[in-house]
Amino acid sequence: MTSKEFVNASTTIGKDEIPSFNGTEKERASDYANYFCSYAQLYHQKQMLADHNRMAAYHSAIMGNTHVFKDKVVMDVGTGSGILAVWAAQAGAKVVFALEYTDMAKHAQKVMEANGVDDIVNVIQGAVEDLDMLPGIEDNKVDIIISEWMGYFLLRESMLDTIIRARDKFLKKDTGLMFPSHCTMYIAPIRDEDERRSLSHDYNSAMSDWNEFVESTHSTYNVDMSILAKDYEREQREYYLLSSRWTELPPESVLTDPVIVKKFDMVTCTIVDSKGIITPTASTTTTTTTAAASENDNDNNNNGNLTSNSFTFELNGNETQGPISGLSGWFTADFKSRTDEIGLKYAPKLTNPSLLCTAPESGYTHWGQQTFYFLSGIPLLPNEVTKLDGVIEMYRSKDNSRLYDCRIKYSTSRSKKGSNDNNNNEKKELMLTAGRTIENVYQIP
Ligand SMILES: C[S@@+](CC[C@H](N)C(=O)[O-])C[C@H]1O[C@@H](n2cnc3c(N)ncnc32)[C@H](O)[C@@H]1O
Repeated sequence: MTSKEFVNASTTIGKDEIPSFNGTEKERASDYANYFCSYAQLYHQKQMLADHNRMAAYHSAIMGNTHVFKDKVVMDVGTGSGILAVWAAQAGAKVVFALEYTDMAKHAQKVMEANGVDDIVNVIQGAVEDLDMLPGIEDNKVDIIISEWMGYFLLRESMLDTIIRARDKFLKKDTGLMFPSHCTMYIAPIRDEDERRSLSHDYNSAMSDWNEFVESTHSTYNVDMSILAKDYEREQREYYLLSSRWTELPPESVLTDPVIVKKFDMVTCTIVDSKGIITPTASTTTTTTTAAASENDNDNNNNGNLTSNSFTFELNGNETQGPISGLSGWFTADFKSRTDEIGLKYAPKLTNPSLLCTAPESGYTHWGQQTFYFLSGIPLLPNEVTKLDGVIEMYRSKDNSRLYDCRIKYSTSRSKKGSNDNNNNEKKELMLTAGRTIENVYQIP
């Protein structure tokens, strides 16, 4: 994963194509430096290979469903060190095309030879977007696309664009399978005051250090730098307070059930879906979707793809210990049978579905969770219900189409049950306060 420091949060949706598709030479070179180059290192590939939650989910998805791989043509998009391509060959694939942009392709070739599958797996070095012909395949189509493309909070790195383009060009329409087949993004309010306070403390120290620096530069060198105070403050605020953090949260820090903010059916999702979590227009679904309600894949009218970016969380101060320190986001990736209309009819069924979950309850994954810490914690008071209402949007950063920013807008209100107001034993809800709306744009670094 690449990291970016001190880049201003953008508030507009900018140029958002990834350069491996139609990029100029200069854009591709900068994309290599920002994104691809880390994938050329075994050190980085090994980090992913040592993520056992990730490995187990893919291994059981492939080896638990060998009947769908037997004698089939498979494409591994972004093969890295080649692990998924080896499993596809071991599962009985007739031929596997393993595409990799970086020099890691050379290592992958060695892995194929060492594991005796080099007669099945064709490692091809290059951008999937530049590939037109599949050697030896008459109809130029594959039965299965496997890929591990997911970034932090699912979309970071924007590799989903690459997968969608590969799918549209190479996957058999009626019977083709995507591994993973469905992905879901969640958010939930969390308590983690130690980290929230520590970030706030670091920001305050950075600012008092600046004041000392301005004074000493003036007294020692006779130059007044105070004109830069506002810009320095903005930089520090963005870095300490308005960047999400990679966290490995203990399950108990999640204060209530998560809500779904986005669902992808990998067979039907589009490049537009991949751009982020954009507030749906009036014609699409806007209701809050709980995790439990997500079981029905056709619960919306957009081919199994859903954006539901408004949220409401209700927390009872007698049952939940606060404060609310922020919101945390994570994702799941499913490997299951097709749920779209055509796929339900014609595509082969997976008999052993598999799930990759990056929620706190699932323990370590290298994705962890992305946590958006609030600038101040929200207390949960005894005998009161605190309601957190808001909207989350996620869109590609103006400066780098591999990165995303998140706009989070929320307000809180507090209520308590009043005394009986009539004889039917019903207690009236008393609204105590409604807070002002707070809006912040966070970078996902
Ligand atoms: C997250 S890694 C996964 C590696 C491997 N499949 C695994 O599961 O261990 C993604 C890989 O995709 C490659 N990649 C990303 N975009 C690509 C593209 N457009 N064409 C070819 N390879 C790409 C990256 O270089 C990287 O090695």
